[in-house]
Amino acid sequence: MDSVLLGDCRAVFAGVPAESVDFCLTDPPYLVNYRDRSGRTLAGDRVGHWLTPAFAEVHRLLKRDTLCVSFYGWTKVDEFVSAWRSAGFRLVGHLTFPKRYTSSSGLVRYQHENAYVLAKGSPRPPEHLIGDVIDWAYSHNEFHPTQKPLAVLTPLIESFCPFGGVVLDPFAGSASTLVAACLCGRHGIGCELEEHMHATAVARLARVRRLLLCSLGFEGDVAAALRLAA
Ligand SMILES: C[S@@+](CC[C@H](N)C(=O)[O-])C[C@H]1O[C@@H](n2cnc3c(N)ncnc32)[C@H](O)[C@@H]1O
Repeated sequence: MDSVLLGDCRAVFAGVPAESVDFCLTDPPYLVNYRDRSGRTLAGDRVGHWLTPAFAEVHRLLKRDTLCVSFYGWTKVDEFVSAWRSAGFRLVGHLTFPKRYTSSSGLVRYQHENAYVLAKGSPRPPEHLIGDVIDWAYSHNEFHPTQKPLAVLTPLIESFCPFGGVVLDPFAGSASTLVAACLCGRHGIGCELEEHMHATAVARLARVRRLLLCSLGFEGDVAAALRLAA
């Protein structure tokens, strides 16, 4: 585990055994044809035909009685909910992330993000319960046009994934979920469709792992760190 695979998540995970991950935390395209101020866009952000097969694959990979947290675009909530249900998930919670800034404006100023908590089977409540309103922190989008802040992801991983467990992100982008998993002492497996973004994700994750090893005094000696952790 601990890798970002390149390709379409509907196909790429075929070789990964069923029921092998402990938690999925993902941020799929919102189906809004997003374009940021510098013109950056997202693959798969126009139509959602991939939603049901992608979440069916997530459902297959999750162990029994586990959770998936998925961000979503509110304008297409019906498509997301229908895909999650068709894939076999139950809706068991809804998270709101209020922002201290306006990300865009229409008839109102848009100042929050949303995610659903989805269950495969009947997961037990976590030991450490978190609230369903979590303050947002601006990520600066250095690595990805819609980069999720690590500070928002880490409490979700700590509550919903056991220490040492495996976190899945089929829409990895710049690997924010996998970096957050690494910082929380969890393994991560992800997938990214775009080659340039996949390269960014691999490099970012490797840099964070090196930094962590150095800060623990192992200076890049992964084998020594693993011996200590075993
Ligand atoms: C909203 S972004 C994720 C950003 C990520 N949370 C971050 O912080 O960097 C969604 C990503 O999914 C990728 N993507 C779209 N369709 C995909 C597919 N079928 N399989 C794998 N990745 C896909 C896009 O290229 C994009 O980078």
